[in-house]
Amino acid sequence: VRPRVHVSEPVPREVDEALRREFDLVGTPQGADGIVSMLTVTVDDAYLEAAGPQLRVVANYAVGVNNIDLAAARRREVVVANTPDVLTGATAELALTLMLSLLRRVGEGDRFVRRREPWRFSLEFMLGRRLAGATVLIVGAGRIGRETARLAEAFGARPVLAGRGDDLDSLLREADIVSLHVPLGDDTRHLVDARRLRLMKPTAVLINTSRGAVVDEEALAAALHEGVIAGAGLDVYEHEPEVCEKLLPLKNVVLSPHLGSATRDTRIAMGMLCVEALRAVLLEGRTPANAVT
Ligand code: GLV
Ligand code: GLV
Repeated sequence: VRPRVHVSEPVPREVDEALRREFDLVGTPQGADGIVSMLTVTVDDAYLEAAGPQLRVVANYAVGVNNIDLAAARRREVVVANTPDVLTGATAELALTLMLSLLRRVGEGDRFVRRREPWRFSLEFMLGRRLAGATVLIVGAGRIGRETARLAEAFGARPVLAGRGDDLDSLLREADIVSLHVPLGDDTRHLVDARRLRLMKPTAVLINTSRGAVVDEEALAAALHEGVIAGAGLDVYEHEPEVCEKLLPLKNVVLSPHLGSATRDTRIAMGMLCVEALRAVLLEGRTPANAVT
């Protein structure tokens, strides 16, 4: 018999077809041998319990696995896999997009034009800042952080990578742009809080394409209102899809709706990594290359 796989949300056609070639897709996690989960699904002990003891693999359609209780999965001998590498470029590009939009006031300018405000070209109008020459502090020296550093360097910026063990507080004082690329965990929740925001230069901006809760969003909104820092570019939110009300009226904030990996090719490649993980565990009895340990 073919293994039973539950997919928590619709996936691209190519991925759906690949899944159906090898597995029977079932409408509920209950009784499934494998699960493809999105980051919007909380896979905790109760979820795993409800799925049942036959469950052997959860393939998370994301690189971040903060929605999964890894300890509970380990106890139940359920393999967890994620989708690294294939979304690195797309996510780093989005971080650069937010930086440039913010520095060159593209979001603000777009809203201005759409409101049909009167304007004409003039020399002092809506002046921004160059990315070239800026010191970009990359918090998190993993795949996405390093790729973001590479792209920033290509724009003439000076990237500084901050990994575990580096003195974040002193690096924050020097940065013109702070870009977050750490996974969300107990050690990184509210990594950027009111105290650390005050360490940043008043001219500095914060970019977050990682997970919303890495930043204390209320504290960030307050800091932006008070001019503690100069702006923010956010793709992720602490209470996603809710966005802190106080961020909405601010000119110096660019907001995107969790689009880091949102290109078709990237999403297909992510899905194929999920299929690969299910195949490894359910059909070949081996640990997938993208297993999370
Ligand atoms: C997206 O946010 C991911 O973690 O893949
Ligand atoms: C600006 O539009 C320029 O041509 O310099």
